[in-house]
Amino acid sequence: VVTYLDHAATTPLRPEVVAAMTPMLTEHFGNPSGSHAVARRAKQAIEEAREVVADALGAAPGEVVFTGGGTEADNLAVAGVYEAVGGAVVCTAVEHHAVLHSCRHLGGRVVGVDASGVIDMAALARALDGDVCLVSVMLANNEVGVVQPLAEVAAMVRSRTPAAVLHTDAVQAFPWLDVAELAADAALISISAHKFGGPKGVGALVVRSGTPLAPLLHGGGQERGLRSGTHDVAGIVGMAAAVTACVSSRKAVVERVVALRDRLADSLLAAVPGCVENGSRSLKVAGNCSLSFPGVESEALLVLLDAAGVCASAGSACASGAMEPSHVLTAMGVPPELALGSLRLSLGWSSTDDDVDRAVAAVAGAVEQLRGSASR
Ligand SMILES: Cc1ncc(COP(=O)(O)O)c(C=O)c1O
Repeated sequence: VVTYLDHAATTPLRPEVVAAMTPMLTEHFGNPSGSHAVARRAKQAIEEAREVVADALGAAPGEVVFTGGGTEADNLAVAGVYEAVGGAVVCTAVEHHAVLHSCRHLGGRVVGVDASGVIDMAALARALDGDVCLVSVMLANNEVGVVQPLAEVAAMVRSRTPAAVLHTDAVQAFPWLDVAELAADAALISISAHKFGGPKGVGALVVRSGTPLAPLLHGGGQERGLRSGTHDVAGIVGMAAAVTACVSSRKAVVERVVALRDRLADSLLAAVPGCVENGSRSLKVAGNCSLSFPGVESEALLVLLDAAGVCASAGSACASGAMEPSHVLTAMGVPPELALGSLRLSLGWSSTDDDVDRAVAAVAGAVEQLRGSASR
């Protein structure tokens, strides 16, 4: 049996997503930019999907731009505003690299967080001057699950630099939170389908009307000129099916997964001496369990867990394999010896009680084994 606790990296496709995508991969294969019947059928599917996605994000259908995933949505937001109006871009130190590296590439300003992972509002205030064109603050963090006070950030941006555009990366928030409500003040919102039961390589950026944004890709002018390239029709339809399934079951899933996550975290905190939790539990999305084990190296732990059939990650998926402490934990002031022993177990809609039982046994056993061999 495989115990899959890496939902923050990606999630299994929901069955209703596969069912919705299949006809678009077979009989309805048209290019939606054409004008004949086969093309029109594909175009109709995309416009129906656009309405579903818009509704879930509190936007108008004409404000949704389909992208090739979360990374592309983030890049379009950051670089697109910069290209359109120029000025300084600002983001937090705990953003996903899709935002953080985009901001750094443009010479942007990076705002720190406190020990619980929440943006330092005084530092944000200092970063906001009249030159700022874009502020990007994620809704929920991918490594520690902490949710940022976006309404407070929006109020500060409005009062200090009203011309600046507020972007939020809601990629990790969407599975758990009502993004329409929490990101109501953001002009740009990124999501990615594969984090909530949809296919990989499909995402969306909400671009509220009137937001200055230049395209990154030039070509056929699809998506109102903001994202050229033939649409991934099946992917977009799959994302909409995942949105519907996620939103309609969200409340029940959150309730169930919070209980599973709490049992997972509390059991490991009790069973493993020295185990600490990263980020404040009360600020986290339901699926996140981030722990550190002093005296243990994440990579060695992941190898033993993998051998025991437990799929987990150290920090973010793209950082695993590298022996550098996670930029998120470092920004939170977690000392390197703890950050290097971090483990992210992330639950999802398909997680079960058995997953928790197996993970607790496997993690406790692996940590004991590693500490035993270290002391020999
Ligand atoms: C917070 C966050 N933003 C952006 C991304 C990138 O999304 P994608 O994998 O669709 O490119 C991820 C995925 O790891 C993420 O967790």
